[in-house]
Amino acid sequence: MENHTKDSTMNVSSLNCIDLSDDDLHNSVVSLKQACLDCGFFYVINHGINDEFMDDVFEQSKKFFALPLEEKMKVLRNEKHRGYTPVLDELLDPENQVNGDHKEGYYIGIEVPKDDPHWDKPFYGPNPWPDADVLPGWRETMEKYHREALRISKAIARLLALALDLDVDYFDRTEMLGKPIATMRFLRYQGVSDPSNGIYACGAHSDFGMMTLLATDSVTGLQICKDKKATPQKWEYVPPIKGAFIVNLGDMLERWSNGFFKSTLHRVLGNGQERYSIPFFVEPNHDCLVECLPTCKSESNLPKYPPIKCSTYLTQRYKETHAELSIYHQQT
Ligand code: OGA
Ligand code: NI
Repeated sequence: MENHTKDSTMNVSSLNCIDLSDDDLHNSVVSLKQACLDCGFFYVINHGINDEFMDDVFEQSKKFFALPLEEKMKVLRNEKHRGYTPVLDELLDPENQVNGDHKEGYYIGIEVPKDDPHWDKPFYGPNPWPDADVLPGWRETMEKYHREALRISKAIARLLALALDLDVDYFDRTEMLGKPIATMRFLRYQGVSDPSNGIYACGAHSDFGMMTLLATDSVTGLQICKDKKATPQKWEYVPPIKGAFIVNLGDMLERWSNGFFKSTLHRVLGNGQERYSIPFFVEPNHDCLVECLPTCKSESNLPKYPPIKCSTYLTQRYKETHAELSIYHQQT
């Protein structure tokens, strides 16, 4: 277990800030590339979602978590990773955590109705929705947010493509972000973390996919570790900035870019205040073969990772980190 010294709680990270409304594309790409090489975390501002709508989304999220547990259990996560995830459902860092994460969540994926030919793919399907009489307007707000977050992700992917010396629309094609897997997750953290006793709001991990857009409230909690091999590990807080997204690269992009871009270890510590956040996980098409990008290999820099299908990789990562659904059915 980690020795949680006072010092390690005081460090604050300063991250590059990418302005999506900046006309100077070159400037944005240089700044983005530097962030991707340095730590894989950056802020994004002027993305086109206004503060009022964002406040609305957080309000709706709060309303859901404030429901009685039995109401939330009616929309318990299903086999397609949609719906409510209770406290301790996810365990991200088994080496350092005594049990799961001290957070509750709600996964919402791309809505694919059962009459769609692709509905049976592992990360597609209809979303369970809380009863509209209980939470009026909830679904509409969340679906709008999903659309907006996907739009912003695609804009960032265009900058990422340029930073990787690819055509600007490289990731736009159908087999990539044209028909993506995109899952957003509402989270509520409660309680005080105690790293020396293995208790974390969210255990150390790097995200599975291509990138994650994180919206948070004003409560501090997220930490990153820029060098996972350092001993002892040095953790820095990422302060929330009103109106900005915190964006981080995931393991799939690290594989895709042959390790050129980094996915960075991060975790959340609870300080006793309730904390709400919304990560939006962006992954390419189910069938996308994540294999070394053409600009990331050479005779002296051969591909380091074997190609793997996006849905195969994701299924494996979800299986490793989430409780078996059967445990909930034994309890009821
Ligand atoms: C995650 C995550 C951070 C946060 O869900 O993968 O890292 O601030 N969340 O909630
Ligand atoms: Ni994460």
